[in-house]
Amino acid sequence: QKPVSLFELGKMRAEGRKIAMLTCYDASFAALLGRAGVDSILIGDSLGNVLQGQKSTLPVTLEQMAYHTECVARANARPFIVTDMPFGSYHENREQAMRNAARLMAAGAQMVKLEGGEFMADTIRFLVERGVPVCAHIGLTPQAVHQLGGYRVQGRSEEGAARLKADALALEQAGAALMVMEMVPAELASTITRSLSSMATIGIGAGAGCDGQVLVLHDMLGVFHGKTARFVRNFMDGATSIEDAVARYAAAVKDGSFPAAEHCY
Ligand code: KIV
Ligand code: NA
Repeated sequence: QKPVSLFELGKMRAEGRKIAMLTCYDASFAALLGRAGVDSILIGDSLGNVLQGQKSTLPVTLEQMAYHTECVARANARPFIVTDMPFGSYHENREQAMRNAARLMAAGAQMVKLEGGEFMADTIRFLVERGVPVCAHIGLTPQAVHQLGGYRVQGRSEEGAARLKADALALEQAGAALMVMEMVPAELASTITRSLSSMATIGIGAGAGCDGQVLVLHDMLGVFHGKTARFVRNFMDGATSIEDAVARYAAAVKDGSFPAAEHCY
Protein backbone atom coordinates (compact mmCIF):
# COMPACT_ATOMS: atom_id res chain seq x y z
CA GLN A 1 0.00 0.00 0.00
CA LYS A 2 1.48 3.31 -1.10
CA PRO A 3 1.10 5.98 1.60
CA VAL A 4 -1.21 8.85 0.69
CA SER A 5 0.78 12.09 0.52
CA LEU A 6 -0.41 15.66 0.51
CA PHE A 7 0.56 15.71 -3.17
CA GLU A 8 -1.76 12.75 -3.80
CA LEU A 9 -4.64 14.51 -2.00
CA GLY A 10 -4.09 17.56 -4.23
CA LYS A 11 -4.17 15.32 -7.28
CA MET A 12 -7.41 13.73 -6.09
CA ARG A 13 -8.96 17.18 -5.75
CA ALA A 14 -7.75 18.24 -9.21
CA GLU A 15 -9.09 15.06 -10.81
CA GLY A 16 -12.42 15.21 -8.99
CA ARG A 17 -11.80 12.02 -6.99
CA LYS A 18 -13.42 12.39 -3.56
CA ILE A 19 -11.31 12.22 -0.39
CA ALA A 20 -12.62 9.88 2.33
CA MET A 21 -11.51 10.91 5.82
CA LEU A 22 -12.51 9.49 9.21
CA THR A 23 -11.46 10.24 12.74
CA CYS A 24 -9.39 7.61 14.53
CA TYR A 25 -7.63 7.55 17.88
CA ASP A 26 -5.86 4.20 18.22
CA ALA A 27 -3.65 1.65 16.48
CA SER A 28 -6.19 -1.10 15.82
CA PHE A 29 -8.64 1.20 14.07
CA ALA A 30 -5.80 2.93 12.21
CA ALA A 31 -4.83 -0.36 10.61
CA LEU A 32 -8.48 -1.19 9.86
CA LEU A 33 -9.20 2.20 8.27
CA GLY A 34 -6.19 1.84 6.00
CA ARG A 35 -7.31 -1.63 4.86
CA ALA A 36 -10.84 -0.36 4.26
CA GLY A 37 -9.76 2.34 1.82
CA VAL A 38 -9.88 5.52 3.89
CA ASP A 39 -7.54 8.18 2.44
CA SER A 40 -6.93 10.29 5.51
CA ILE A 41 -7.18 9.83 9.27
CA LEU A 42 -8.03 12.70 11.57
CA ILE A 43 -6.97 12.43 15.18
CA GLY A 44 -9.75 14.80 16.16
CA ASP A 45 -10.15 16.57 19.47
CA SER A 46 -13.59 14.94 19.27
CA LEU A 47 -11.75 12.32 21.34
CA GLY A 48 -12.75 14.57 24.23
CA ASN A 49 -16.38 13.70 23.50
CA VAL A 50 -16.18 10.10 22.29
CA LEU A 51 -13.30 8.72 24.40
CA GLN A 52 -13.33 10.92 27.49
CA GLY A 53 -17.04 11.67 27.84
CA GLN A 54 -16.49 15.43 28.01
CA LYS A 55 -19.31 17.81 27.09
CA SER A 56 -17.09 19.68 24.65
CA THR A 57 -13.62 19.52 23.09
CA LEU A 58 -12.34 22.34 25.30
CA PRO A 59 -10.64 20.24 28.04
CA VAL A 60 -8.51 18.21 25.58
CA THR A 61 -4.78 18.77 26.03
CA LEU A 62 -1.81 18.84 23.66
CA GLU A 63 -0.25 15.82 25.39
CA GLN A 64 -3.45 13.82 24.89
CA MET A 65 -3.47 14.71 21.19
CA ALA A 66 0.19 13.72 20.92
CA TYR A 67 -0.46 10.41 22.70
CA HIS A 68 -3.31 9.41 20.39
CA THR A 69 -1.32 10.54 17.35
CA GLU A 70 1.52 8.23 18.41
CA CYS A 71 -0.96 5.35 18.85
CA VAL A 72 -2.36 5.87 15.35
CA ALA A 73 0.97 6.54 13.65
CA ARG A 74 2.52 3.26 14.85
CA ALA A 75 -0.09 1.19 13.02
CA ASN A 76 -0.79 3.46 10.08
CA ALA A 77 0.25 2.19 6.66
CA ARG A 78 -1.55 4.26 4.04
CA PRO A 79 -3.86 7.13 5.14
CA PHE A 80 -2.56 10.68 5.50
CA ILE A 81 -2.47 11.66 9.19
CA VAL A 82 -3.98 14.96 10.34
CA THR A 83 -4.05 15.93 14.03
CA ASP A 84 -6.20 18.59 15.67
CA MET A 85 -4.46 21.29 17.65
CA PRO A 86 -6.50 21.51 20.86
CA PHE A 87 -8.14 24.60 22.32
CA GLY A 88 -5.64 27.16 23.58
CA SER A 89 -2.61 25.54 21.94
CA TYR A 90 -2.38 27.92 18.95
CA HIS A 91 -4.35 31.01 19.94
CA GLU A 92 -1.73 33.09 21.76
CA ASN A 93 0.59 33.78 18.85
CA ARG A 94 2.22 32.07 15.88
CA GLU A 95 5.31 31.04 17.86
CA GLN A 96 3.14 29.16 20.34
CA ALA A 97 1.31 27.54 17.43
CA MET A 98 4.60 26.47 15.80
CA ARG A 99 5.99 25.04 19.05
CA ASN A 100 2.87 22.97 19.67
CA ALA A 101 2.49 21.92 16.03
CA ALA A 102 6.08 20.65 16.20
CA ARG A 103 5.12 18.43 19.16
CA LEU A 104 2.26 16.89 17.15
CA MET A 105 4.41 16.45 14.02
CA ALA A 106 7.06 14.71 16.15
CA ALA A 107 4.30 12.39 17.40
CA GLY A 108 3.51 11.36 13.83
CA ALA A 109 1.11 13.95 12.44
CA GLN A 110 1.66 14.83 8.79
CA MET A 111 -0.57 17.89 9.02
CA VAL A 112 -2.17 19.87 11.83
CA LYS A 113 -5.72 21.19 11.89
CA LEU A 114 -6.79 24.37 13.56
CA GLU A 115 -10.14 26.11 13.82
CA GLY A 116 -10.88 29.63 12.70
CA GLY A 117 -11.34 31.95 9.75
CA GLU A 118 -9.34 34.87 8.40
CA PHE A 119 -7.98 35.72 11.86
CA MET A 120 -5.95 32.48 11.71
CA ALA A 121 -4.34 33.34 8.35
CA ASP A 122 -1.11 34.77 9.81
CA THR A 123 -0.63 31.75 12.05
CA ILE A 124 -1.27 29.37 9.15
CA ARG A 125 1.19 31.16 6.86
CA PHE A 126 3.83 31.01 9.62
CA LEU A 127 3.39 27.23 10.01
CA VAL A 128 3.24 26.46 6.28
CA GLU A 129 6.39 28.48 5.56
CA ARG A 130 8.13 26.37 8.18
CA GLY A 131 7.13 23.04 6.70
CA VAL A 132 3.99 22.27 8.66
CA PRO A 133 1.04 21.48 6.38
CA VAL A 134 -2.19 22.95 7.70
CA CYS A 135 -5.85 21.96 7.51
CA ALA A 136 -8.19 24.85 8.31
CA HIS A 137 -11.66 24.39 9.85
CA ILE A 138 -14.55 26.84 9.41
CA GLY A 139 -18.31 26.88 9.86
CA LEU A 140 -19.23 25.28 13.14
CA THR A 141 -15.95 25.33 15.06
CA PRO A 142 -16.60 23.27 18.22
CA GLN A 143 -13.81 24.93 20.23
CA ALA A 144 -15.87 28.15 19.92
CA VAL A 145 -19.14 26.49 21.00
CA HIS A 146 -19.72 28.92 23.86
CA GLN A 147 -19.19 31.86 21.53
CA LEU A 148 -21.48 30.39 18.87
CA GLY A 149 -24.22 29.55 21.35
CA GLY A 150 -24.41 25.83 20.62
CA TYR A 151 -23.83 23.30 17.86
CA ARG A 152 -25.75 25.01 15.06
CA VAL A 153 -25.60 25.54 11.33
CA GLN A 154 -23.33 28.42 10.28
CA GLY A 155 -23.55 30.74 7.28
CA ARG A 156 -27.34 30.82 7.02
CA SER A 157 -27.55 34.63 6.90
CA GLU A 158 -26.28 36.63 3.93
CA GLU A 159 -23.68 38.20 6.18
CA GLY A 160 -22.61 34.84 7.61
CA ALA A 161 -22.30 33.34 4.14
CA ALA A 162 -20.16 36.26 2.94
CA ARG A 163 -17.95 35.83 6.01
CA LEU A 164 -17.35 32.13 5.29
CA LYS A 165 -16.55 32.84 1.62
CA ALA A 166 -14.00 35.49 2.60
CA ASP A 167 -12.55 33.20 5.29
CA ALA A 168 -12.04 30.38 2.80
CA LEU A 169 -10.18 32.59 0.33
CA ALA A 170 -7.98 34.05 3.07
CA LEU A 171 -7.12 30.59 4.42
CA GLU A 172 -6.27 29.32 0.95
CA GLN A 173 -4.02 32.34 0.34
CA ALA A 174 -2.34 31.71 3.69
CA GLY A 175 -1.36 28.27 2.43
CA ALA A 176 -3.84 25.87 4.03
CA ALA A 177 -3.98 22.78 1.79
CA LEU A 178 -7.18 21.33 3.27
CA MET A 179 -10.17 22.92 4.93
CA VAL A 180 -12.92 21.26 6.93
CA MET A 181 -16.34 22.89 6.60
CA GLU A 182 -18.70 21.82 9.38
CA MET A 183 -22.47 22.39 9.43
CA VAL A 184 -22.60 24.75 6.47
CA PRO A 185 -25.57 24.80 4.05
CA ALA A 186 -24.79 22.45 1.16
CA GLU A 187 -25.24 25.09 -1.52
CA LEU A 188 -22.88 27.53 0.20
CA ALA A 189 -20.25 24.83 0.80
CA SER A 190 -20.43 23.89 -2.87
CA THR A 191 -20.06 27.53 -3.96
CA ILE A 192 -17.05 27.95 -1.66
CA THR A 193 -15.46 24.73 -2.95
CA ARG A 194 -15.79 25.93 -6.55
CA SER A 195 -14.34 29.35 -5.67
CA LEU A 196 -11.03 27.83 -4.56
CA SER A 197 -8.09 27.06 -6.81
CA SER A 198 -5.96 24.69 -4.74
CA MET A 199 -7.31 24.08 -1.24
CA ALA A 200 -9.39 20.90 -0.92
CA THR A 201 -12.59 21.14 1.12
CA ILE A 202 -13.66 18.34 3.47
CA GLY A 203 -17.28 18.49 4.53
CA ILE A 204 -19.09 17.33 7.65
CA GLY A 205 -22.70 18.37 7.43
CA ALA A 206 -21.76 20.49 4.42
CA GLY A 207 -23.18 18.52 1.50
CA ALA A 208 -21.76 16.41 -1.31
CA GLY A 209 -20.28 19.35 -3.19
CA CYS A 210 -17.09 19.30 -1.10
CA ASP A 211 -13.88 17.64 -2.33
CA GLY A 212 -14.09 15.09 0.47
CA GLN A 213 -15.99 14.07 3.59
CA VAL A 214 -15.17 13.38 7.22
CA LEU A 215 -17.17 11.79 10.04
CA VAL A 216 -16.42 10.88 13.62
CA LEU A 217 -15.67 7.14 13.65
CA HIS A 218 -17.89 6.38 16.65
CA ASP A 219 -20.81 8.21 15.02
CA MET A 220 -20.65 6.34 11.70
CA LEU A 221 -20.33 3.00 13.54
CA GLY A 222 -23.31 3.84 15.73
CA VAL A 223 -21.40 3.34 18.98
CA PHE A 224 -21.44 6.91 20.27
CA HIS A 225 -23.70 7.13 23.32
CA GLY A 226 -25.57 10.37 22.92
CA LYS A 227 -27.39 12.46 20.39
CA THR A 228 -26.03 12.26 16.86
CA ALA A 229 -26.40 15.05 14.35
CA ARG A 230 -28.49 15.08 11.19
CA PHE A 231 -25.38 14.71 9.02
CA VAL A 232 -24.39 11.32 10.49
CA ARG A 233 -25.21 8.03 8.79
CA ASN A 234 -24.78 4.74 10.64
CA PHE A 235 -22.78 2.62 8.21
CA MET A 236 -23.15 -0.50 10.39
CA ASP A 237 -26.72 -0.75 9.05
CA GLY A 238 -26.49 -3.57 6.54
CA ALA A 239 -22.74 -4.09 7.04
CA THR A 240 -21.25 -7.52 7.78
CA SER A 241 -18.37 -6.21 9.93
CA ILE A 242 -16.78 -3.00 11.16
CA GLU A 243 -14.28 -3.15 8.31
CA ASP A 244 -17.15 -3.60 5.86
CA ALA A 245 -18.95 -0.56 7.35
CA VAL A 246 -15.83 1.58 6.93
CA ALA A 247 -15.35 0.29 3.37
CA ARG A 248 -18.98 1.17 2.61
CA TYR A 249 -18.37 4.67 3.96
CA ALA A 250 -15.29 5.14 1.77
CA ALA A 251 -17.17 3.82 -1.26
CA ALA A 252 -20.21 6.03 -0.58
CA VAL A 253 -18.00 9.13 -0.31
CA LYS A 254 -16.22 8.23 -3.52
CA ASP A 255 -19.35 7.55 -5.57
CA GLY A 256 -21.06 10.65 -4.18
CA SER A 257 -23.96 8.78 -2.54
CA PHE A 258 -22.95 10.07 0.91
CA PRO A 259 -23.96 12.61 2.05
CA ALA A 260 -27.51 12.48 0.65
CA ALA A 261 -30.04 15.33 0.91
CA GLU A 262 -31.29 14.00 4.27
CA HIS A 263 -27.83 14.58 5.80
CA CYS A 264 -27.61 18.19 4.63
CA TYR A 265 -28.74 21.66 5.61
O1 KIV B 1 -12.51 16.61 16.11
C1 KIV B 1 -13.07 16.17 15.10
O2 KIV B 1 -13.47 15.01 15.01
C2 KIV B 1 -13.25 17.09 13.98
C3 KIV B 1 -14.04 16.61 12.80
C4 KIV B 1 -15.45 16.37 13.16
C5 KIV B 1 -13.91 17.51 11.63
O3 KIV B 1 -12.76 18.18 14.02
NA1 NA C 1 -11.93 18.80 16.01
